[in-house]
Amino acid sequence: MAYKGAHLAFKSRWHKTDEELCRHSMSFVLHKAIRNDFFQSYLYLLEKLPLVKLYALTSQVINGEMQFYARAKHFYQEVPATEEGMMGDYIELSNTDIESSREFLRKFIGGVGKAGTNRALDCGSGIGRVSKHVLLPIFKSVELVDMMENFLAEVPNYLQGKEDRVEMYYCKSLQEFTPAPQRYDVIWIQWVSGYLTDKDLLKFLIRCQNGLKDNGVIILKDNVAREGCVLDCLDSSVIRDLNILHSLIEMSGLTILREERQEGFPEQCVPVWMLAMQKDPGYS
Ligand SMILES: C[S@@+](CC[C@H](N)C(=O)[O-])C[C@H]1O[C@@H](n2cnc3c(N)ncnc32)[C@H](O)[C@@H]1O
Repeated sequence: MAYKGAHLAFKSRWHKTDEELCRHSMSFVLHKAIRNDFFQSYLYLLEKLPLVKLYALTSQVINGEMQFYARAKHFYQEVPATEEGMMGDYIELSNTDIESSREFLRKFIGGVGKAGTNRALDCGSGIGRVSKHVLLPIFKSVELVDMMENFLAEVPNYLQGKEDRVEMYYCKSLQEFTPAPQRYDVIWIQWVSGYLTDKDLLKFLIRCQNGLKDNGVIILKDNVAREGCVLDCLDSSVIRDLNILHSLIEMSGLTILREERQEGFPEQCVPVWMLAMQKDPGYS
């Protein structure tokens, strides 16, 4: 008699069915109704959730995920393992960048309710420019992750005496890398988020959350488009606008603590922003 209960429960919706029809066709009707409801919800999501639109956004500009990643790797094979290589054509901006990063970072570490200073993770570290100038002056140890083996191989030489405070090197693409749970006080992601598709950046941010210790902070620093999502064909990266970044961050469950535009860069440069994020305590 279970079908009768279901029939009554859904009577208002299926008022055209009678008991007899119901008994014989309940599974068919149920199947159809569930399928319709599923479709309705799917369409609703398509309309409402920027996530779906975001997937479309990267796929609109990148022309295939595999190619997108392969081209970036190809590009970095030609890049020298030097500060100049890490900064592209803008080596003269490195000091300004470092100064602002240090100042920004200081707002979130040390003291009650703030991040600790034991261990930081440098994502898309390259030869360790950020580790050397921003992280190692503050944290007892750092770990570096980058997809290019030759950049990581250069780190010990580049750090000039601080290399013994590197706990781990991970030669991995960020889209395949999972930070160990509850391991880091700060996770720094600079000038690398644009090499990930929306989907992979979102997933990476979610995995980074799990890698944070209590009061840990994720800092994302990157070029930010004035509008939309713009492909840079030269190095196969995208530049997202702040709205897109905000949507991804919100979807990852992170809360933005603060965001600041990098000052002191020439007007003709793409704006650079720093965003500090933390786990939302209410998010599971
Ligand atoms: C512009 S450099 C920035 C290096 C460093 N973050 C800095 O600010 O000096 C970009 C770095 O990201 C790395 N990279 C690019 N795509 C990556 C990916 N999918 N996964 C991991 N590293 C990536 C490159 O190998 C390179 O070292």
